[in-house]
Amino acid sequence: MIAKIKRGSAGTCVVKGMLHINKLGFPVFAMVFSFVVVGGAPHGAEKAVAGDDTGRQHIQWGKSLFNGKAVCFGCHGQNGDIRSISNGQVAQLNPSPTDLRAPSDKSVRQLYLIVKYGIPGTSMPPLRDTEKFSSEDILTLIAYLFDLQGRAHPLELIASQAVRPHTDTDVAMAKLCEQEDMGKFDRKEHCEQRYAKRYLDLLIGRPPDIALDRYAQIETICEHIANHDLDSLELCYRAEYTATRQDK
Ligand code: HEC
Repeated sequence: MIAKIKRGSAGTCVVKGMLHINKLGFPVFAMVFSFVVVGGAPHGAEKAVAGDDTGRQHIQWGKSLFNGKAVCFGCHGQNGDIRSISNGQVAQLNPSPTDLRAPSDKSVRQLYLIVKYGIPGTSMPPLRDTEKFSSEDILTLIAYLFDLQGRAHPLELIASQAVRPHTDTDVAMAKLCEQEDMGKFDRKEHCEQRYAKRYLDLLIGRPPDIALDRYAQIETICEHIANHDLDSLELCYRAEYTATRQDK
C-alpha cells in the first residue's frame, strides 16, 4: 500500500509526514491514509478565505487545514462530520475517532496539547511538523474545533489560554519549571517541551471512552494517592483507565 502511495503525486507532502509518523509507531495512521491519499487529495486546502471578519477568517483557515493538509478529515470526517467516514479501516480503530461536533469538556489548553502532541496509545497523531505547520496553524485549528461545537472563541483568547497552566497537573508542572534554571530559554515553551509530552495523559483530561462520573472518581482517588507527585499521579491514572476499560 505504501508503494502505491509513493507513486501518487497529489498527496506527496501528506505522505512524507505520514511515513515519518509511521516510523514513530503509528502504523494504523499510515494504513488509514493510504486510503485517503489514493482516494484523492482534497481541494482548496491552501486558499485563504476573503472577508473582513478576522475571527471568521481564522476559523476558515483552520477549516481548510482540517479538510486539507492536516488530514484530520481522514479520521474525523469532512467538516468534522464523523458520519461521512465510509472507510472500514477507520471504523475499526480502537478507540474510535471522537465526534468533534459533540460538545466537549476540553479546555483550550487541552485541545492545544491534543492537536500538537496527539493522544498517546491511540491513533490520534501529533501535528508537530514545524516546517509544515506553524503555531498559528494549530491555534486556527482550535478555533475551528470550537466553531464545530457552536462556540466561537477569538484567536487572541485561544493564543493566551493555550499556554496557560490551569489543571492541577499543569500547576504542579509549572512549579517544577519555576524551580529550574532555564537560562536563555523561553520558560513556557521549554517547560512545555520538557513536561507536557511526558505528562500528556494527565494534561489532556478525560478520554472520551471514560464516563464523566467515573473520571471524577478517578481524579479524586489519584489525587489522594499521589499527593501531587506527578509520576505517581501518572501511574494511578493509567492503572484506573485500564481497569475501567477491562470492566466494560
Ligand atoms: C488516524 C486517525 C486520526 C487523525 C488523522 C486525527 N485524529 Fe483526532 N482522534 C483520533 C482518535 C482515534 C481520537 C480518540 C482518542 C481517544 O478516544 O482518546 C481522536 C481524538 C481527537 C480529539 C479529542 C476530542 C475530545 O474531546 O476528547 C481532538 C480534539 C482531535 N482528535 C482533533 C484532531 C485534529 C484537529 C486532527 C488533525 C490535525 C486529528 N484529530 C486527526 C484519530 C485521529
